[in-house]
Amino acid sequence: MGQGLSGFLSYFGGGVSQAPSLDEDDKDIPEASRRYKTFRKHPELFDSRILDSWVAPELVEIVQACKAGFNCEPREICPHLREEVAGVYSFPCFTKEFISCFNEEIASFYASGIPARRPNSMNNYGVIVNEIGMRPMITEFQQKYIWPVAKVLFPKQASQFDDHHSFIVRYTASEDLGLDMHTDDSDVTFNVCLGHEFTGATLTFCGYMGAPDHRKASHVYAHEVGRAVLHLGSRRHGADDIASGTRMNLIVWSHNKAWRRVHRLRLSDDYEKEEGPPDPVCLSYTHDRDYLAYKKKPVGRAAGRNRAWCPPPGMEYEGFGDKDDDKDDAIL
Ligand SMILES: [Fe+2]
Repeated sequence: MGQGLSGFLSYFGGGVSQAPSLDEDDKDIPEASRRYKTFRKHPELFDSRILDSWVAPELVEIVQACKAGFNCEPREICPHLREEVAGVYSFPCFTKEFISCFNEEIASFYASGIPARRPNSMNNYGVIVNEIGMRPMITEFQQKYIWPVAKVLFPKQASQFDDHHSFIVRYTASEDLGLDMHTDDSDVTFNVCLGHEFTGATLTFCGYMGAPDHRKASHVYAHEVGRAVLHLGSRRHGADDIASGTRMNLIVWSHNKAWRRVHRLRLSDDYEKEEGPPDPVCLSYTHDRDYLAYKKKPVGRAAGRNRAWCPPPGMEYEGFGDKDDDKDDAIL
């Protein structure tokens, strides 16, 4: 199957690979942060504190409820916490004050002309906010607000958070339209919409990586400005194409190093045979061996399939044999 096996193995390092390694990240390369310091518009975004006026009161209530020690279904934790579908949750997150400050800061960074590495291998217009100096603020937000909620919803993956990869993504009709189906190199993903005005640009969820139904559609989430969605990194998802306007989101990939070590060792043994043909909406042009058996090559995607791995050998659904389009890779 061509390079499928190597793709399969690399997958366990993350469906969407990030540009720098976690341990290197901005700790070793603070150049953009140093250069940007004199351009800062809102210095408070670079401190290790979260202003009360930035956080939606509903999120404060959710965190309080989680800290109170819940022993019930997630949907019963707090009325402000919405279970979109099993394993995907959303909640009001930031106030207009924070969104305004943050967006001004990002606009200032773009205007500075300082080069920025892209957040991952599949996004061309984002910025790693850790690298421009926001790591302390994001860490504080992660520990104070994301973690208390995540450890109730995902006790194993969020038993502790000891690192994060944080970045913004931006989609417009003239830049990146959306993002192919993928999983994240995170244990828990926090994704909050910060604007601006847009239509389309929904977020489609499928199943968990390795599960028989991992390429079956499960939910379509419509972003709302100021609202966050929380899910496991192993959940297959994709950003649907934007129809008009600009969408910008802040994404925090939280990492639990101890859990990841165990998880990586066990995962390859746990991959299950796919239950049947995939739902077309869950197909990944980048990752799926049978993509071209169901859909045409996306416009503007001349490359990117050289590591298609899914489904892994031996785990194919019945009838997959004549669907494997690896041979077509040579002419892409
Ligand atoms: Fe993602």
